[in-house]
Amino acid sequence: MIFAVHENFAYPMRVEVPKGLNSLSAEECGSCHAEIYKEWSQSMHSKAWSDRYYQTEFRYDGSTPVCKNCHTPLENQQKYSYTEFRDRDMLDPVLKPNPNFDPKLQNEGVTCAVCHIQNGKIVGPFGNVNAPHPVKADPAMSSGSKYCLKCHTIAGKRWDTFYKIPPCGTIAEIKAGGNEPDCVGCHMPPAERPLVKGFEPKRVGRHLFHGGHHPDKVKSALSVEYEKEVDGDSVKFVITLTNIGTYHYLPTGTPDRHLTLELRLFGQNGELIKEKIFKMKRYILWRPVIADLWDTRLPYDEPRKFVFGFRKGKTSPPRTLEISVRYHLLDEARKKKIGYETEEPISYEVYGKKLDLQRESG
Ligand code: HEC
Ligand code: HEC
Ligand code: HEC
Ligand code: HEC
Ligand code: HEC
Repeated sequence: MIFAVHENFAYPMRVEVPKGLNSLSAEECGSCHAEIYKEWSQSMHSKAWSDRYYQTEFRYDGSTPVCKNCHTPLENQQKYSYTEFRDRDMLDPVLKPNPNFDPKLQNEGVTCAVCHIQNGKIVGPFGNVNAPHPVKADPAMSSGSKYCLKCHTIAGKRWDTFYKIPPCGTIAEIKAGGNEPDCVGCHMPPAERPLVKGFEPKRVGRHLFHGGHHPDKVKSALSVEYEKEVDGDSVKFVITLTNIGTYHYLPTGTPDRHLTLELRLFGQNGELIKEKIFKMKRYILWRPVIADLWDTRLPYDEPRKFVFGFRKGKTSPPRTLEISVRYHLLDEARKKKIGYETEEPISYEVYGKKLDLQRESG
């Protein structure tokens, strides 16, 4: 056994179609809530099933049913239904064909109904609205983490060794001074607009859910500074990286995500003289037990210094220093191992600078 399934995500969710609506599909919600639908459609939530990387990893992991309870959590999104397990760890459910399986709904991944339907009603932050469907007010919805932690688990005492890390390893590590972390505030930025065209504008949360797939989001969390120290012939650059934009670690999410700080020194003719690559990553041992080995990612507001030294040299002094910080969704080795084929880049630059050392004073 490498992990037991926590009851938060051991079973598919059962929800009813609210009165006044014909289906659970996001497309139907979108026929009225057009802007929210557009935002959700570009988020990874809408691709939680269709995403190629997920599909590859899912097959590589033996198509374990438990994956679906976060990536396609509604019962009607799953081909098989179940209410009992063959094992204590809840990894081996007794599967029965599901007559209500809806492949189109499956393709919607973390769809509107997952967060918004409770007991046949649509939950929302307001309550006092003029909707064609029954609504239930939950003012707690417009901030905090209540609607996120079912799937985005937080590292903490709640998780013993076996429950510690969910199957794809996602964990938010929060440093919010003891307050409830405001996932909604940072991932659903506020706007003033009507919920449906023609209605009164309200304070709404944009359904963007940006993260590692959106470079601007990652860039917004990183500060890079550098200093040059010269002592005779020796030169030292001190580069300081700080997570200034997220209360969880930078990066967060699956353990595949990582940052690299890449430093390259070039000579007069562009030849590479020296190179150094630092990795910021969470290292996990998966078998025989799950254990966090070490973690070099950036906690909120804790500057980290990296040193890069070289000699000025007399005959052929170095000419340029390249400082680059890259974000990686996963690394090449893992991509190859699981057979993930994609045309899209799996990493991108979030900071880049070329320093002309001859022009630099000192
Ligand atoms: C036929 C049009 C229509 C459809 C379809 C529809 N809605 Fe609505 N919805 C509305 C209207 C109108 C309001 C109220 C707007 C207002 O008063 O500002 C509303 C309000 C809401 C609210 C706010 C409730 C509150 O109390 O805070 C939520 C959340 C919501 N809808 C979600 C959904 C979801 C999810 C779906 C699909 C499962 C859906 N809606 C389908 C028209 C629709
Ligand atoms: C039903 C499970 C579930 C719930 C509830 C949920 N998420 Fe997610 N979320 C996922 C899954 C699964 C993915 C990854 C989809 C993929 O990339 O395949 C994801 C992806 C994300 C990402 C994007 C990561 C990226 O790679 O760019 C963000 C940000 C995010 N969620 C924030 C939230 C917030 C904020 C909430 C609460 C309002 C929330 N989620 C609620 C399952 C969930
Ligand atoms: C991962 C969970 C999640 C998913 C998926 C999701 N929502 Fe929401 N939704 C929320 C949260 C949380 C709020 C409250 C945001 C706020 O008020 O700042 C909200 C608010 C709303 C509101 C009220 C306006 C507002 O922003 O307060 C409407 C309408 C709505 N959602 C419709 C939809 C529709 C339509 C979809 C699918 C296309 C959808 N939601 C998908 C979590 C979700
Ligand atoms: C202060 C703002 C802030 C808060 C609070 C916050 N986040 Fe984030 N989050 C970010 C930023 C910025 C990024 C992009 C950098 C990164 O990946 O760490 C991000 C990235 C993510 C990602 C993307 C991971 C990936 O693999 O692509 C997920 C998922 C996520 N956050 C979930 C959450 C959840 C769940 C909460 C609440 C428990 C939360 N965040 C609270 C700002 C925030
Ligand atoms: C407890 C809920 C949960 C379960 C169970 C779960 N996941 Fe996830 N998964 C998430 C969340 C939340 C994210 C988004 C965090 C992030 O972006 O790093 C995610 C992201 C991923 C990603 C990254 C996709 C991307 O956008 O790059 C892959 C791949 C993945 N999961 C595979 C799996 C597989 C395979 C299983 C089953 C063995 C599984 N997951 C089970 C919640 C879950």
